[in-house]
Amino acid sequence: MARNPEVVIIDPDLDVRAELKRTLEVGTFTVTGVADYGIEAVTVAQERSPDVFLVSMEEPVARALQTIEMLGSANSTAAIVVYSSLSDAASVRRAMVAGARDYLMKPIKPEDVSRAVFGILEQEERKRIHVGSDVSEPVARGTTVTIFGAKGGIGKTTIATNLATALVRTTGANVVLVDMDTRFGDVAIMMDIAVETSIADLGRRVEELDRESIKDYLVRHHTGVTILPAPLHPTEWRSVTPQQIERIIDLLAQGHDYIIIDTPGTFNELIATTLELANMILLVTSMDIASIKDTALALEMLRAAQVSEDKVKLTINHSTSSNSLREEDVERVLEYTVTWRIPHDYNVANSNQLGIPIVIAKPYARVARAVTDIAYALSGAPRERKGFLERFLGRAG
Ligand SMILES: Nc1ncnc2c1ncn2[C@@H]1O[C@H](COP(=O)(O)OP(=O)(O)OP(=O)(O)O)[C@@H](O)[C@H]1O
Ligand SMILES: [Mg+2]
Repeated sequence: MARNPEVVIIDPDLDVRAELKRTLEVGTFTVTGVADYGIEAVTVAQERSPDVFLVSMEEPVARALQTIEMLGSANSTAAIVVYSSLSDAASVRRAMVAGARDYLMKPIKPEDVSRAVFGILEQEERKRIHVGSDVSEPVARGTTVTIFGAKGGIGKTTIATNLATALVRTTGANVVLVDMDTRFGDVAIMMDIAVETSIADLGRRVEELDRESIKDYLVRHHTGVTILPAPLHPTEWRSVTPQQIERIIDLLAQGHDYIIIDTPGTFNELIATTLELANMILLVTSMDIASIKDTALALEMLRAAQVSEDKVKLTINHSTSSNSLREEDVERVLEYTVTWRIPHDYNVANSNQLGIPIVIAKPYARVARAVTDIAYALSGAPRERKGFLERFLGRAG
């Protein structure tokens, strides 16, 4: 199953550790442990076997260097990435000689960590292929994000279509949007595409397909997003099995950087499969009492299904303009941290009706900026800085 890279943070400073853990967990990392230098680091290394160690190195550097060497012998497969405020060549060299694979300068940004970690994991992957392991079955998989919510009409499809588009715009990545709304399947309408073949047709033929031939069934949208539409008629879902969905998502994940899955406001075994396969679940809630109550039940259900909390990012979407609840109340009632907030924006209805994602139609609208922020957080891509005039013209247009 696809999973997030697992990271252990080694830093003697408790505050820095906690802050870095919070920052990384907003993205696609799972922080499985934090520790001080020395034996504590080695113990955590043996218990957790992460993909990457992030190790702080400051003056005096002896303890950090000794820890890096100990980690290398305790867990030879994990990569060690050092972060430091020391920018001189001698410090960098000493860290690398001790066994570090990369060296990041403080203040440490999530996008730097993403680049370093994914760079190392890709390099490892290339090495594995090179030494002649199974070349036809690469281990690398894209990141699967399931947009989930306990209710209909709370903005799941709006978020799914716009997040997919924003990811293409911010990263140039290969993004596939899968419409798993087993009732209405609105993606085709919101992206204004004609449905010729759907996920149900694909399900029937999935055993004959591989990661290249599956692309013939996808619709290429002018935004650059690739779409796998839902069937036009909901009864066609009856022939689709969880095993088919698992295989389809796996094949898509072999050929795309991101798989964004839209879901209905109801729950069934196909949706359970999309939650199980996701690296990240955006649990969307609107701000009305009914939605909060249903979200509490959804959180309970995810816990009962043993879905890791690291994966579940609570996202408030102000799909209506009513303001009876405060976001603090939502966090208190749900006992869950809100990761992302999407404001109410009257431009959404218009762009949904036109079939143009708002991140394209009105890139500077409040909703477009909020969804673009999620895309940056997910991908760790560096932000493009726009000049005042360009922003002004974009907003006016
Ligand atoms: N942030 C927002 N600001 C203003 N309107 C919004 C916002 N988000 C969603 N909407 C509006 O809310 C309505 C429902 O949105 P959407 O279809 O994306 O929800 P959904 O959760 O996918 O619904 P369903 O479960 O029925 O598929 C649409 O009319 C959309 O224009
Ligand atoms: Mg929808």
